[in-house]
Amino acid sequence: MPTILITGANRGLGLEFVRQYAADGWRVIATVRDPLAGKAASDAGADIYVADVSDPNSIQRLKGALAGVELDVLLNNAGIYGENQSFGAVDPDGFLKVMRTNVLGPLKMAEAFAGQLTGRKIIASVSSMMGSIAENTSGNFYAYRASKAALDMVMKNLALDLKEQGVTAIALSPGWVRTDMGGPNAPLDAPTAIAGMRAVLAKADLNDSGKFFHFDGRELPW
Ligand SMILES: NC(=O)c1ccc[n+]([C@@H]2O[C@H](COP(=O)([O-])OP(=O)(O)OC[C@H]3O[C@@H](n4cnc5c(N)ncnc54)[C@H](OP(=O)(O)O)[C@@H]3O)[C@@H](O)[C@H]2O)c1
Repeated sequence: MPTILITGANRGLGLEFVRQYAADGWRVIATVRDPLAGKAASDAGADIYVADVSDPNSIQRLKGALAGVELDVLLNNAGIYGENQSFGAVDPDGFLKVMRTNVLGPLKMAEAFAGQLTGRKIIASVSSMMGSIAENTSGNFYAYRASKAALDMVMKNLALDLKEQGVTAIALSPGWVRTDMGGPNAPLDAPTAIAGMRAVLAKADLNDSGKFFHFDGRELPW
C-alpha cells in the first residue's frame, strides 16, 4: 500500500486529496493545525497528525512522530493567501507570514522527510498560476505571488539537490478552485482539480522533476 503525507488536510484541496487517495487504497497521513478539525480527514480514512508548517519546531515534532515511516509521496498542500498586499499597503508581518507558510514550510517539510521517501519518491507542492512570472499580466497580490514564485524555485532546487537520491520534485497548479481560499466564484470544484493533479502525480517520474504542471496535465512556464 503506497503512503502519502499531506499537509493542511482538514479542509479545501487538502481534504479532497485525502478523500481521493484514501478511496484509492493509499495509506494517507494527514496533518492539521487543530486536532479537533481533523474529523473529516479521519472519517475519510487518514491517520491524523498535528503540524503548523510555518513553525520549523512543529515540523520537527512531526518528524519525530513519524520516525521510521516510509513515504511514497510528500504533498505540500498547506498554504495561505494573506491580506493587505496591494502596492503601497503591504503589511510587513503579513508578508513574512505568507512566506513562512508557503515557502519555508514546504522546504522544511522536504528537509525533514526526504530521507524517508521510498517507492515513488515524489515531493510535490501545490503552487499557483499566480506564482508564474511568465503568466503574470495583472499585478497586485505581492505576498502570495512572491511566495508561490519562491516556492517554485524551492521545487526546482529540490529537483537538482535530490536527483541523486532519485527524488522527483514538482510544482502543481490546481487551477482556480471553489474552496475557502478560492471563493464561491471559482470555476472548478475540488474533486475535478484534485483528480487532475493526482493524474499528474500518477505518471510523474524523474524526467518531470523540476517542472510545473497544471491540473490538466499541461506543463506551465515558471
Ligand atoms: N483554491 C484555489 O483556487 C487555489 C489556487 C491555486 C493554489 N492554491 C493552493 O492550494 C493549497 C490549498 O488551498 P485551498 O484552496 O484548499 O485553501 P484553504 O481552503 O484556505 O485551506 C488551506 C489549508 O491550509 C492549512 N494551513 C494554512 N496555514 C497553515 C499552516 N501554517 N500550517 C499548516 N496548515 C496550514 C489550513 O489549515 P487551517 O484550517 O488550520 O487554517 C487549511 O487546511 C494552497 O497552497 C493554495 O495556495 C489554491
